[in-house]
Amino acid sequence: MIRRLALPADALVLLIGPSGSGKTTFAARHFAPSQVLSSDALREVVADDPNDQRATDDAFALLHEILAMRLRRRRLTVVDATNLEAWARAQLLDVAWRLQRPAAGIVLDVGLATCLERNAARVPRPVPPATIRRQHRWLRDSLASLPSEGFAEVHHLASVDEVDAVRVQPGG
Ligand code: CTP
Ligand code: MG
Repeated sequence: MIRRLALPADALVLLIGPSGSGKTTFAARHFAPSQVLSSDALREVVADDPNDQRATDDAFALLHEILAMRLRRRRLTVVDATNLEAWARAQLLDVAWRLQRPAAGIVLDVGLATCLERNAARVPRPVPPATIRRQHRWLRDSLASLPSEGFAEVHHLASVDEVDAVRVQPGG
């Protein structure tokens, strides 16, 4: 069954999920490249390496700047980062709040086993399995706190099938 997500045309959209949950794949499938801000891509912009964790602070500083510039123009903007910690989400929500734009969360909750399996198949392997296990615990915590963080809408996609069934309708 198809699940239609009608996202406001001027929204901040946070993809939320562990490494291997399919955030980048989902973003590429449903949004134009210019609508997507990726922490990995911006690490590459500043450090020539998407996995260089030392570039994280600069990558997110850039991400927040570009996000504000886009939301000011009422351009729907998707943040492709794990977004699993409440403080990281709060910084992004603050940008939307200041510019009075709605925020939507899309949780890619495909299960720990799927994330571990996909991660194992990636070359080079981006993160150790222990990191994905920790991120999965953060995902459970996130599901509890997301409803009270200020999102206009939270879409919890609770399996690979639910993720695959999504059709995004921007401006809906
Ligand atoms: N993948 C898959 N089937 C899907 C979605 C993803 O086989 N329906 C594969 C991708 O091809 C990729 C891996 O799973 O090799 C991880 O997907 P990706 O979209 O890159 O996951 P992210 O959540 O973006 O992971 P990260 O946080 O590490 O960027
Ligand atoms: Mg990714």
